[in-house]
Amino acid sequence: MSRHFHEIHLTINGEAVSESVEPRKTLVDFLREDLGLTGSHVGCEHGVCGACTLLLDGLIVRGCLTLAVQCDGSRVDTIEGVADSGTIADLQQAFAARNALQCGFCTPGMLLTAAQLLDEGGVPSRERIRAHLSGNYCRCTGYQAIVDAIETVARARAKIPPLKRGGRIAAGDPGWGRDPHPTPSGSASPLQGEISSSITGEQS
Ligand code: FES
Ligand code: FES
Repeated sequence: MSRHFHEIHLTINGEAVSESVEPRKTLVDFLREDLGLTGSHVGCEHGVCGACTLLLDGLIVRGCLTLAVQCDGSRVDTIEGVADSGTIADLQQAFAARNALQCGFCTPGMLLTAAQLLDEGGVPSRERIRAHLSGNYCRCTGYQAIVDAIETVARARAKIPPLKRGGRIAAGDPGWGRDPHPTPSGSASPLQGEISSSITGEQS
């Protein structure tokens, strides 16, 4: 059976990319298999778990429900690009400090989804954080630590003192009092580097 390919042109993590793809190929498979961007994971493959979360023209999408050919002419941002930009360094560090990841499979999608919520500004309620994350499944953490980490970063960015809730959030938390958008290179702590690399390609 002959295979048909379409030429597509995208901007991926700020770089122009032109490739030939089969019309049936999903965006997440295209990124992982054709471009080696394995930070986006494939779980359920039918839009439920959120492991394949990506940014398409700035909006959160399911990479498993989006065909690569649909993205012709669009901008795609993956966890690799967002992490390298340094814009979520405080979030990554808070996840590490709060034990908001264990196996790390859900973490790239969780971080992109959390970053979108934090970009709205202010300090969302814990109920709002939970509702926003409701499309991202985590089989390991029980979510409490993830909500803690996001709340910590939201308060730090808003320069509101951290809460002390059962000792979970303390003034010494990473993110508190720090520049929320440090420069991507040179200033990252070893911990940031460790957590960044653990979510950008090693989980395949
Ligand atoms: Fe796409 Fe689960 S793999 S939502
Ligand atoms: Fe394992 Fe979330 S840390 S699925």
